[in-house]
Amino acid sequence: MKRVITYGTFDMLHYGHINLLRRAKEQGDYLIVALSTDEFNWQEKHKRTYFEFEKRKQLLEAIRYVDLVIPEESWEQKVSDMTVYQVDTFVMGDDWQGEFDYLVNQTDVEVIYLPRTPEVSTTQIKQDLQNG
Ligand code: CTP
Repeated sequence: MKRVITYGTFDMLHYGHINLLRRAKEQGDYLIVALSTDEFNWQEKHKRTYFEFEKRKQLLEAIRYVDLVIPEESWEQKVSDMTVYQVDTFVMGDDWQGEFDYLVNQTDVEVIYLPRTPEVSTTQIKQDLQNG
């Protein structure tokens, strides 16, 4: 069984997220989503989420492409996650292009960046709603 992992915040789930999760799942048989905790988002990514961790987790668990949701609490956990969860393929959207290439050397995973779905993002949705 080929195991795939992806990382992200997935706040106010939108079709760009669904597209990413569908294509990530297509890379293998079992998809793990490492979901940024509220603390990690705030302290490391300087983002305050609209939905708290447990709500974002529930939404992801309801998606047919997602098999397991685990917390993302640090940047460093990726290397050990690859072993703990026996990951074959690491997938991210191409806004992270190149950022995680080190995993190829430090672990034996394949690293794939998928093209983002154009235009939509959580930040954009928030801005558009604010501007009426
Ligand atoms: N993603 C994507 N296409 C989009 C938006 C997001 O493929 N239009 C992917 C990202 O590349 C990432 C994952 O979905 O791999 C989670 O992204 P996240 O940062 O949570 O979503 P954004 O909508 O980009 O959120 P923000 O605007 O807060 O950065």
